[in-house]
Amino acid sequence: MSTASRVETLRPLPPTGMNDEQVARYESQFKEHTNRWAEILQRNADRMRKGEYSLHWMKTDQAAWGRRAKPSSRGLTYTDINNVPGYGDIPERVTFLSFAPRGAVREPYADEMPVVDDYTLVDRGESWADNVVTLYEEAKARQWNATRDIPWSELERLPEDLEKATCQLCTFLTEVEFVAGDFPAKWLYKIPQDFLEVKSFIVTQMMDEARHQEVFRKRAIAGGGLLHASPGFEWALKAINDAPTHTMGTFLLNLLGEGLVLSMFRSGEMIAKTHVDKEIFRRCLQDEARHVSYGVLELKNYLDNAPDRPAALEEMHRFADVGEQVILTSFTEAALVEPMAILLGGGLDKIDQGMEGQAHLWKMSVEEYLQRCERAGFDRRDRCTIPLDSPWGQG
Ligand SMILES: [Fe+2]
Ligand SMILES: [Fe+2]
Repeated sequence: MSTASRVETLRPLPPTGMNDEQVARYESQFKEHTNRWAEILQRNADRMRKGEYSLHWMKTDQAAWGRRAKPSSRGLTYTDINNVPGYGDIPERVTFLSFAPRGAVREPYADEMPVVDDYTLVDRGESWADNVVTLYEEAKARQWNATRDIPWSELERLPEDLEKATCQLCTFLTEVEFVAGDFPAKWLYKIPQDFLEVKSFIVTQMMDEARHQEVFRKRAIAGGGLLHASPGFEWALKAINDAPTHTMGTFLLNLLGEGLVLSMFRSGEMIAKTHVDKEIFRRCLQDEARHVSYGVLELKNYLDNAPDRPAALEEMHRFADVGEQVILTSFTEAALVEPMAILLGGGLDKIDQGMEGQAHLWKMSVEEYLQRCERAGFDRRDRCTIPLDSPWGQG
């Protein structure tokens, strides 16, 4: 076959349409602003052509230059650098919607900067929490590796009922862990640079949740396999993901949902049937405690800074009325309640005793939830729609 005839047989790739449109939109957007960034290019090119240097970036009259940060006993923390004048003022409302770092010389350039339209969480009340810096430090210090830090090779074979119950519980946890990563991810890019401490902490939560999903998936597959997904959980996850505001979703995920999971992990000693499982729960417990802690103080910060506190409280109550019911639905699913009862009781034949144990756990979990709400200044005691006694009535 000659080259010419081979070329003739070639056909163009089928048009996909979608990327084409997106690229066209991107092109036109940047061409629309061409005069703004092309001026910068022109200016730079002119100077370089003349063989001149600018060196404007060495001027420090508008910078907080020269006051050197000193490490504390833990090393050099965000608190240590925030103590240096010029860097630690966290604005109540962010006006700088660019990528420029807080404390850099950025005002003179404001007019030439593009605006990051995605930065919509501009109020400190919508994402800040007073413990966020400490939690970030703790999160970094306590990272662990689900491949290496769990003694997988020592995993013992369990009787079938206990193994299935463990694997079903792990299937549930695998199903829910990713929303705990997806939700913060959904809001992360909406938080402006000036709240860099919040962004940093949220990234650690995403890493934690990726690892939790990983460790429970691995535990299930190392023990027998993944078992059943469950529609009740899915509605709770959707309710979290679709929350209308960051604070509402954080309340539902971190304070309520992860709060209940935290109470569950606290009983890890009783639920875990092998020392490998105990180690998994112990490590996840530490991570979850941080997420819950952020959730409580984030809500407190939101309410404390709300311009109209009664209205903000009423909105949160309306949201919680729905949220609690949706979370309740998932925590009554047989695919969660029954394996928990088998593990707490110690076998399928002791599932009834396990249900009694779980009723105690339920009471304790709901009580802890109400206490967390109180700590945030959100009194749900008279309005809570989750029954204090378990729906199956024992305990
Ligand atoms: Fe988690
Ligand atoms: Fe979490």
